[in-house]
Amino acid sequence: MKHLKDLEQMMKYFTQPPGAFLTVKDKDGRVNTMTVCWGFIGEMWSEPHFICVVRPQRYTFNLIENAVDYTISVPYGNLVKELQICGTKSGADINKSEIVKFIPAKKTISPVVDGCNAYYECLINYSDSLKEAFMSDEAKSHYKNDAHHFYIGKIIEAYIVD
Ligand SMILES: Cc1cc2nc3c(=O)[nH]c(=O)nc-3n(C[C@H](O)[C@H](O)[C@H](O)COP(=O)(O)O)c2cc1C
Repeated sequence: MKHLKDLEQMMKYFTQPPGAFLTVKDKDGRVNTMTVCWGFIGEMWSEPHFICVVRPQRYTFNLIENAVDYTISVPYGNLVKELQICGTKSGADINKSEIVKFIPAKKTISPVVDGCNAYYECLINYSDSLKEAFMSDEAKSHYKNDAHHFYIGKIIEAYIVD
C-alpha cells in the first residue's frame, strides 16, 4: 500500500486551500463530498490511519455518522473551482455530483472524486467529538462552540495517479 508515497507533496495540497475532497456514501445510499484541509496520517493499532475532522453543522456529518467508510481525494493543483464550491455550498442545498464526478473506489463503499492525484480509502474505526473540557487555552481560542468530530479511518487502500 502506498499511503506514505508522496506524503510531503500530498500534505502540501491537503493542508491548505483549495484543499481536498472528503467523500461519503452512507448506509442509505446518499453520496456527498465536502472540502477539507485538516487531518492527519499516522499509525494506530499497528495499521495506517487517516484522521479527518468534520463540524456537526455539515451535511457531510449526517452522512458520515451513518456510514462505515469515507475517502479522501487530493488534487495536486487542479479542480480548484470544484473545491471552492464543495467548500462553500452544502449538499443539503445542491447536488454535488453535478459539480464533481464520483467514480467507484477500489475497496470502500464511498466513491472517490475523479481527476485527483492521491487517494485514500478509509474504514471508520473510531469517532468522537472534541470536547472543550479537555482543550488547552490555545485550542479553546479556536473553539467557536462548534467542536469538530474526528474520524479515525483505517487506510485500506491508497494510490497515486500521476
Ligand atoms: C479550504 C477549505 C477547507 C475546509 N476544511 C474543513 C474541514 O477540515 N472540516 C470541516 O468540517 N469543514 C471544512 N471546510 C468547510 C466545508 O467544506 C463547508 O462547510 C462545506 O460547504 C460543507 O459541505 P456539506 O454541507 O455538503 O457537508 C473547509 C472549507 C474550505 C473552503
